[in-house]
Amino acid sequence: MNLRILFVSSEAYPLIKTGGLGDVAGSLPCALLDLQLDVRLIMPAYATAVGQLGDTKILAQFSEGTDTVTLREGQLPDSPLKVWLVDAPGYFDRPGNPYLNSNGQPWADNAARFALFSRIVTRLALNQAGLNWAPDIVHCNDWQTGLIPALLALSAQRPASVFTIHNLAYQGLFPAHNLQQLGLPASWWSHHILEFHEQLSFIKGGLVFADRINTVSPGYAREIQTAEFGNGLEGLLRHRSAVLSGILNGIDTEEWNPATDPLLEKHYDANNLSGKHANKQALQTALGLPQKPGTPLLGLVSRLVTQKGIDIILDAIPSLVKLPLQLALLGSGDQTLETRLTTLARQYPNKLAVSIGYDETLAHRIEAGADMYLMPSRFEPCGLNQMYSLRYGTVPIVRNVGGLADTVTDTSAKTLAKGTANGFIINTDDSLALLKTIKRALRRYRDKAQWQQLQTTGMQQDFSWRNSAQEYLSLYRQAQQANPNPVSNAK
Ligand code: ADP
Ligand code: GLC
Repeated sequence: MNLRILFVSSEAYPLIKTGGLGDVAGSLPCALLDLQLDVRLIMPAYATAVGQLGDTKILAQFSEGTDTVTLREGQLPDSPLKVWLVDAPGYFDRPGNPYLNSNGQPWADNAARFALFSRIVTRLALNQAGLNWAPDIVHCNDWQTGLIPALLALSAQRPASVFTIHNLAYQGLFPAHNLQQLGLPASWWSHHILEFHEQLSFIKGGLVFADRINTVSPGYAREIQTAEFGNGLEGLLRHRSAVLSGILNGIDTEEWNPATDPLLEKHYDANNLSGKHANKQALQTALGLPQKPGTPLLGLVSRLVTQKGIDIILDAIPSLVKLPLQLALLGSGDQTLETRLTTLARQYPNKLAVSIGYDETLAHRIEAGADMYLMPSRFEPCGLNQMYSLRYGTVPIVRNVGGLADTVTDTSAKTLAKGTANGFIINTDDSLALLKTIKRALRRYRDKAQWQQLQTTGMQQDFSWRNSAQEYLSLYRQAQQANPNPVSNAK
């Protein structure tokens, strides 16, 4: 019998996306369908997501406390994947970002919003909503879904749970009084369960109770068990190391394909890179940078937060602008970083183009038009942009952390000879190291044949979900075996 998977996420591309979790939730479930699993994606019915989904049908309607909740079913655009939306208007029917208000602050009722979502998912997972469909596995992602494995553990008969950490820095921490307000068991107030330094931690629900925990690269799975990357949870993660693993994210190779991408000026592939020049020219024109085909153009598309090392780039800009290069940066986030970037862009208009905002089209055009891609993250659970860059022949310059170190091989005489070199690695998080590595890349760029070797090595790598989806299937089987009392299923 095909495994039934309830894939739970707080965002999914193309319905709503703030970062890589959206990309993963919009593509991994589809790869699981290709493995013949019976998958449903469930997420909150944010106004934007409902708008994108188009026609939906009502599957169920029920009360949860004093709230009436409607479960809607639709289909992910251009895919056979069924999407379930948890429609609780007071909680999710709001414009804009799923987590933040228009001032960039977390919505004041986030604890209540994601606790309600978790309760509904748990109810569906226990086959208590009259749907006659009970999953074998509930696959939870990040803190917004952390309470689900904990709530499931309250039932003697339950599906197995898997919890994926996409970013341990975001933990869903709330003031202590929320425990009672959300009607959670008083016994959970213990540092062995949901308490974290006198706050209520949603992510700990996943880390303490899930049958299997994984993160999105093998490197980050090792790193989070250390004090440097563990955000205070390294002890718990070491304690659970027997059920903790890393599975590298894949990418949507149709959405991100330079040979077919409808957003590009000209298509190209690993056998014929000539089309890349037209994309560079179009990008320089669009961003108001001087038309210089021979000058290396460095791109970046990112949330503007400390994680991504944007401040390290900012510190390096006065030196970078003295080098023969141009920079094209797209991002939004921290307002101080946004202001510093736009100020510098005004100061160096021939060198630096900064676009503040969220722009899917420009993101594709930067990946295609740039020669190199900058990603000096302080930590990176996986990172998708370096993989998009590799696929687009845009050589990545990255920190040696997490998924970046797992996907990028530094260029040296040895790795060039072996044919594995595909990018450049920065060894520490400071602007001097960044600058040195960029200079090293610029020297290599002058040797056209060698540069093309780097490009084609990256373009020929397989970053599709095929292998990783298989690894998730093995993880599901392990979780299932660890679960002694599955819910009886109407199969
Ligand atoms: P993270 O999830 O930590 O933000 P990832 O590299 O996993 O980092 O994924 C980020 C995703 O969000 C990529 O698809 C990237 O292109 C996209 N993205 C980030 N910022 C922007 C932006 N300002 N405009 C368009 N896309 C963006
Ligand atoms: C997180 C991480 C990023 C990862 C993404 C998808 O947002 O910061 O490294 O690629 O999740 O798993």
